[in-house]
Amino acid sequence: MKEELEKIKDNTLKEISSSAAIDDIEAIRVRVLGRKGELTAILRSLGKLSHEERSETGKRSNEIKAELEDAIEKRKSELGSAAISKLIQSEWIDLTLNSPGSTSLRAHGHIHPISQMQYEIEDIFSSMGFEVLDGPEPELEYYNFEALNIPKHHPARDMQDTFWTEDGNLLRTHTSAIQIRGMEKKEPPFRIVGPGRVFRYESTDASHENTFYQVEGMMIDKNISVANLIFVMKELLREVFRQDVKVRLRPGYFPFVEPGFELDISCLICGGKGCGVCKQSGWVELLPCGLVHPNVLKFGGIDPDKWSGFAFGLGLNRLVMMRYGITDIRHFLSGDIRFLNQF
Ligand code: PHE
Repeated sequence: MKEELEKIKDNTLKEISSSAAIDDIEAIRVRVLGRKGELTAILRSLGKLSHEERSETGKRSNEIKAELEDAIEKRKSELGSAAISKLIQSEWIDLTLNSPGSTSLRAHGHIHPISQMQYEIEDIFSSMGFEVLDGPEPELEYYNFEALNIPKHHPARDMQDTFWTEDGNLLRTHTSAIQIRGMEKKEPPFRIVGPGRVFRYESTDASHENTFYQVEGMMIDKNISVANLIFVMKELLREVFRQDVKVRLRPGYFPFVEPGFELDISCLICGGKGCGVCKQSGWVELLPCGLVHPNVLKFGGIDPDKWSGFAFGLGLNRLVMMRYGITDIRHFLSGDIRFLNQF
């Protein structure tokens, strides 16, 4: 019986190490260690042996059983990882390759020129200590008009043709609504910018869109003057256009600033000589701005006797148009990939 045991052991170990499939190993396991297996049969027949023989053979049988079980597990896991490596080798795909039938590399998307400009401006203002705030596109009448010193039935409401919703709310006509939300949120002194999409119920032409982008800005502190406003605006324009830009201020009417201005820049397309973009005037209207009206400060919960500030509303589309010499604002939302691919 001893010899038989050793023979089973040697044969089985040989078979295990030469087997090439997990199924084969399982078959070996059943044949030798299963309920009716060769080794199991020996263990079962131990009772027929003498006491001495029984303990010796029993001990050896159990050793061999453990050794075989070990060998089986080891070989199984070897074959398992070999199978996985083989799958990885045979089934990997190169995601950077062209798809079948295509001749050029897959097209990569990129950031829209308006977003590029927006992020750049956020960076410029962040470096000057401004915080970037957000606001909703569907807006309450209160934030878009009322708190900006434009009461109901005020003729200034006609300056901004509005998309109203049936329940009396609106799509914001300007980012100035963010001024009020900012004042509610922050304690003076503070500096904020609020970029975003705005909407006007307007027919479109080369310089008008019903959907466009602005960056609102507001600085509240002690003794803010027009000089502070001009400095920050010129600093911004110098960074955006990477050159000193000539500016001029004209009076402009906005109920939420007093005094209010239109800041024009010398036309960068023609260098101020006069062209189609500046309508032969040499100047381009770019930045409405002014000192914050005391009523607006009050709406924002800020004491106008202690604090003052400036605000501006930068037209992002126009800024991008100036930078690249784009002459029709409607390109931006046209979805024409030939236009967008240029940026
Ligand atoms: N909100 C104004 C507009 O869209 C622009 C503006 C902003 C004017 C801030 C003055 C101060 O026309």
